[in-house]
Amino acid sequence: MHSFTQDCSSFLTTPPLPSFIPLVDVRAIAPSEQTGFESSLHGQIQQAIQSVLAQGDYILGRAVIEFELAFASACTSPYGVGVGSGLDAIALGLIACGIKPRDEVLLPANAPISTAMGVVAAGATPVFVDVVLTTGLLDLVAAEKAITPQTRALVPVHQFGQMVSPRQLLDLASTFDLLIFEDATQAHLAEREGYRAGAVGVAAAFCFLPWRNLGGMGDGGMVVTADEGVAQGVRSLRDSGISRRHHHTRLGTCSRLDSIQAAVLSVKLPQLPAWNGDRHCLARHYDHALIHLNLPGITALRNETGRGHSYERYTIRVSDQAVVNAFLLQAMLANQGIQTEMPWGKPCYRQPAFQPYHPSHCPNTDLLSQQALSLPLYPSLSAEQQRRVVQALQSACQTSTRLYSPGHPCG
Ligand SMILES: Cc1ncc(COP(=O)(O)O)c(C=O)c1O
Repeated sequence: MHSFTQDCSSFLTTPPLPSFIPLVDVRAIAPSEQTGFESSLHGQIQQAIQSVLAQGDYILGRAVIEFELAFASACTSPYGVGVGSGLDAIALGLIACGIKPRDEVLLPANAPISTAMGVVAAGATPVFVDVVLTTGLLDLVAAEKAITPQTRALVPVHQFGQMVSPRQLLDLASTFDLLIFEDATQAHLAEREGYRAGAVGVAAAFCFLPWRNLGGMGDGGMVVTADEGVAQGVRSLRDSGISRRHHHTRLGTCSRLDSIQAAVLSVKLPQLPAWNGDRHCLARHYDHALIHLNLPGITALRNETGRGHSYERYTIRVSDQAVVNAFLLQAMLANQGIQTEMPWGKPCYRQPAFQPYHPSHCPNTDLLSQQALSLPLYPSLSAEQQRRVVQALQSACQTSTRLYSPGHPCG
């Protein structure tokens, strides 16, 4: 005879919650049981911090100078100047490049907010330009149409590790006598057409937020340049306009990369090519899975750069042809313990802070803000975790097909 509890047991036991897969795991270098490699890196980081503590040169110390040289050289540039954040790298870099108040600076309408705020902090006027729908990158045809006699600079953002075409950028800049200042904060060691990110324009900004391909344990940024005058300018601007001890020749600010952050970043830098390689493999798996699953209306943002993409993110577009929209898909994946992000939720050019600069109409930017979805991607994402993400994508689409098919009450 069946007891009540036996009959109801399947209802009383709740299925185990799936383990959480974050969009990015910034603790990837924490000591790990499984990989001696990660734990040895953790030990090296502790040693590097200890040596800064022992030296006591916490501000613009030896660790900063060493990291500036190493990172600039990894970007194939002679000079690197460490600053407090990516925003400051953009602002101080533009000023050091000679951008003056009210100069117009072209940038993509989906740029991160800090890019646009960096332009404004330099005293310039941001002019938002639409992006290419298939890549999310600055549309250089639209950029050309936005040029006026006041336009002085282009700030291409190498979004998610994919560079804007250096050849096309250089053509446009030389035709209209514009300066290129790259926002390479998401593109550490990315390459395209023989150029490394940061080596295309007069100067470039990087940041070292913990979730970047090369991330610190706090804030930090750098201006990288081949122009010694620009490097000197940023060195002065980051340190209250100093030119030599007790001598301040210009108005500056206080924005310096910490020695402790620089020491951490120096330990991690040699691993960056391998980590970028891991990201690349994971991205290839997502590419193949998307082709294999053949989910109508769901495509990856197009990779224009072949192997040069550094995949800071892997982002898909969920178009009107899909059985599900990006909002619903995000919720369905969250239900499976998978974190995703709509990266351009409210595009920069539509943010209230930028209303004074908002005459532009950028339909592709608006569409992508509703349709783009970034999937989990970081070097330590396991094959099993990635399989779960792909399966969850597939089952979300299957469930939606069933729910919205003709004949179903929701259809
Ligand atoms: C493309 C881009 N530019 C600039 C920044 C600003 O960096 P930070 O937050 O260090 O100021 C970010 C940060 O998210 C970014 O993604």
